[in-house]
Amino acid sequence: MAFNLFGRIKPLDAILATAEKKALTRTLGPIQLTLLGVGAVIGTGIFVLTSEAAQKAGPGMMWSFVIAGLVCAVAALCYSELASMVPVSGSAYTYTYAVMGELLAWMVGWALILEYAVAASAVSVGWSGYFVGLLANAGIELPRALTIGSYAPGGLINLPALIIALLVTFLLMIGTSESAKVNAVLVAIKVTALTIFIVLTLPMMQGQNFDPFLPNGWFGESRGFGAVGAAASIFFAYVGFDAVSTAAEETKNPQRNVPIGLIGSLAICTVFYLLVAAGAIGTVGAQPIVDAAGSTLAPGSTEFAAQCQALLSAGREPLVCSHEALAFVLRTIGHPVFGNMIGIAAFLALPSVILIMLFGQTRIFFVMARDGLLPEKLASIHPKWKTPHIVTAITGVAVSVFAAFLPVGQLADISNSGTLFAFLMVALAVLILRRTDPGRHRPFRTPLVWIVAPLAIAGCLGLFYNLPFEAKMVLPIWGGIGLLLYFAYGYRKSHVGRGHIEVHERDIDAPQQPVPPISDR
Ligand code: ALA
Repeated sequence: MAFNLFGRIKPLDAILATAEKKALTRTLGPIQLTLLGVGAVIGTGIFVLTSEAAQKAGPGMMWSFVIAGLVCAVAALCYSELASMVPVSGSAYTYTYAVMGELLAWMVGWALILEYAVAASAVSVGWSGYFVGLLANAGIELPRALTIGSYAPGGLINLPALIIALLVTFLLMIGTSESAKVNAVLVAIKVTALTIFIVLTLPMMQGQNFDPFLPNGWFGESRGFGAVGAAASIFFAYVGFDAVSTAAEETKNPQRNVPIGLIGSLAICTVFYLLVAAGAIGTVGAQPIVDAAGSTLAPGSTEFAAQCQALLSAGREPLVCSHEALAFVLRTIGHPVFGNMIGIAAFLALPSVILIMLFGQTRIFFVMARDGLLPEKLASIHPKWKTPHIVTAITGVAVSVFAAFLPVGQLADISNSGTLFAFLMVALAVLILRRTDPGRHRPFRTPLVWIVAPLAIAGCLGLFYNLPFEAKMVLPIWGGIGLLLYFAYGYRKSHVGRGHIEVHERDIDAPQQPVPPISDR
């Protein structure tokens, strides 16, 4: 008797029957789960968006990391309850279907497209920054027109970002999966790179670089700036921890281990992020650049790019202008070799974040198509590769086009708007289900749920409100398109709507997980 807003609920028991049929062996322990989370989380956020956060908040971006981390922590506690209770694919989409009905589930699935696909674009652009920087340091200057989108003076298309996104799409189409071992190696590379960064920068910090600490205050002159505005953007650095929740069904003792994995990976990332941010600020400074009138320029804007160009021509490059923030810091403080090494670490590790995000996207599409809300043709499986090649190709092309033309910060903000909506719905679903179905077995119960879930909801709303205007507008516009599509297609074709409640033998019939497959462990 779930709370039924719009009449069509997918019964929780049918969803759970699907999970039971899978009968996956529970092999994951807390360490593997934490590694899984760290592998999906550390990426463009810390390696690239540190510059953008500095432009918005100055040294106060350290608070931004804390605020975004706290919102993720309470959201993660809510995710844990649903993930251990409804351990099937589709994440927030599936939970919403069971609790709040098809229409809202569709909207969540639709918003998750923003989370995953646009995040894949953002990480592709982040990768491009490091790739171009590495080449430049090796004496190979690629033409500016081909390395940055047309929003920047002299820019036309970000070809490396386009190519990496297409390459990862191709790998996914032919069924490439990332084994647990590869994931562990990439996590080790990222963590080593960040540790070296911290060890080299912390002893060289200077107190005056932290002053003024909050040049734009908490909220800035306009939305999107100040420490809270930067928190809404740097939230991107934490996105991906929900990968842990989707592995709930493969976890030993999920009551204990899923929250350890979720909270553990978040805690590890937060500590690294704070130390890295402190090292960057303390060594090279992090003050925003302003226009002639003294107003802080928006990162990614044409004016900002022009001002950075002018500073560069004058032989000055502040942190806020760098497309490869961490490598830039190490080179600036006299460690060019380590700067290049951190560049290589990003070059090697970021494609796996793109892979995880793109895979997440195709899996959501797959589940939605299987429910009849999208044309089933989209989910058809390639006979040889055993992957949903059509939906992967369509998604990959869209991701590549966005990566080719838009700035990384804007992409991250758009991705955040979708993610925040999905997190909010998960927190709401936890509360509703506690009321409507209190007797159901919950392997993990969110502690202090009547405080934690409302805090998650408030945190998501607060961060969303502080996103830049354009990013905020994308969600309702995207949502409007989604509604039209739903009523034009999904409403009529929905399997639940037509009275078919399927129980699937296997949750997903073909695609392998790039996030470590079970058999690997
Ligand atoms: N959190 C991931 C990143 O920073 C998406 O790249």
